[in-house]
Amino acid sequence: MTKIDRLSRRRFIRSTALLSSIFLPGVGRIQAIPAHIQNSRDYEGRLCFNENPLGPAPLAQTAIEETASMAHRYPDYFSTELESTIAGIHGVDADMICVGAGATEVIRLIADAFLNPGDELITATPTYFQMSYDATTNGASTVHIPVDENFVIDLDLVLAAITENTKIISLVNPNNPLATIIHKDDMNAFMNAIPEGVIVVVDEAYHHYVQSEDYESCIQYVQAGLPVIVLRTFSKAYGLAGARIGYSIASQELTDQIDSTQLFGTVSRMSQAAALAAIDDTSHLESSVNLNTMAKIVLANGFASLGLSYIPSESNFMMVDVGIEAAPIRASLANMGYLVRTGWDMPNYLRVSTGTMTEINGFLDALESLLVVGVSGNTEIPQQFALQSISPNPFNARCRIDLSIAEPGQTKLTVYDLLGRNIKSLLNSSLKPGRHEFFWNGKDSFGNPVASGVYYLVLLQGELAATQRITLLK
Ligand SMILES: Cc1ncc(COP(=O)(O)O)c(C=O)c1O
Repeated sequence: MTKIDRLSRRRFIRSTALLSSIFLPGVGRIQAIPAHIQNSRDYEGRLCFNENPLGPAPLAQTAIEETASMAHRYPDYFSTELESTIAGIHGVDADMICVGAGATEVIRLIADAFLNPGDELITATPTYFQMSYDATTNGASTVHIPVDENFVIDLDLVLAAITENTKIISLVNPNNPLATIIHKDDMNAFMNAIPEGVIVVVDEAYHHYVQSEDYESCIQYVQAGLPVIVLRTFSKAYGLAGARIGYSIASQELTDQIDSTQLFGTVSRMSQAAALAAIDDTSHLESSVNLNTMAKIVLANGFASLGLSYIPSESNFMMVDVGIEAAPIRASLANMGYLVRTGWDMPNYLRVSTGTMTEINGFLDALESLLVVGVSGNTEIPQQFALQSISPNPFNARCRIDLSIAEPGQTKLTVYDLLGRNIKSLLNSSLKPGRHEFFWNGKDSFGNPVASGVYYLVLLQGELAATQRITLLK
């Protein structure tokens, strides 16, 4: 049964790929990527796969190059060093980690290990499709639970849907495509209500990008001995989507079962080395997260100034409601070079991944030209929380930054470069409501003059954010 299904799925994808698109249940049609985009390192506008626009961590790239000369030798089949390093990071034993060729492989392993004909998987809708796909492949059925009015996974409905056939509950947190998170208190109550015999899989592919304090990783529930499997990937913030490395964290007993369904050596020598090096490249990780935060602010402000509503994002992509059917807009954007996604039975929404600042600004310009809705005021952004002005801009020796805030509170004003690197923190303290002025002398936090070029000023206070470009000319 399962064997026949897998063969037909492969054939199915090949045949639909010939038509230049693939249909995925619950997701919609995914356009095949033309070769010149698929193979170009620097293609600008690939905003459809939630990849890291900064590229791989430099240390990981070096590690791949260095291990390439050993490509004729089989890798360590058990990814021993990588699994024990990952285990050290999470404070668990190495036999609680299963590394695979992307979270995609590990999701398949979990479905193969635990799902059989007649079993039920419960998951949200919309959400990342993979687990449901692999449930079908194993003859299990999926119960799709709609998200609530705030686009958050409704855990009460999930609990209410449990039957004696329920084997796995699969949660994606932050969720894809919605970029929302489950509140940590709700997750805690949910975990305590899980009946015996049900495994909870929590896909945390995007956890690095979460800024909300209402979020917590579910690794703590693995540590507490609950039947929970947490999934992580190196494809997102670590920038290694092309190297295919992901892993699960679960009890030794569950991990043994996941491991038992895996083929030997699916994670190449180069990928293992890349992942180990990426873990060490903390500055790349930090820049990737910073760039993502900036890009989201620019996107949010861009959407607001176009009069479009969007779902606030805790991830590296954003859902925007374009107010009309989004599929034709997606097609036109693709013609203009910007690849984004539609689907998930949300016909007016586009999902756009964060990119470089150039990509994000180009995308917003392209979207504006297609929508021609003009600029309307945004009522959601409090008028008094703003970067009011930067003068002069461009500047040479020193510029003055005027900002205003509406509420008292911890406020940060930071200068970033175009690669998301933190150049200088100008403020990180509590401010009173009102107008304030700051100065930047074009030097980094070590007092060294920075190069001419474009920088971003980011103002943050709690959930509020504003950003402006600033140009240094020498
Ligand atoms: C929620 C989620 N999980 C897993 C994956 C796949 O991860 P990997 O590249 O590690 O296979 C994706 C890919 O976009 C995703 O969105």
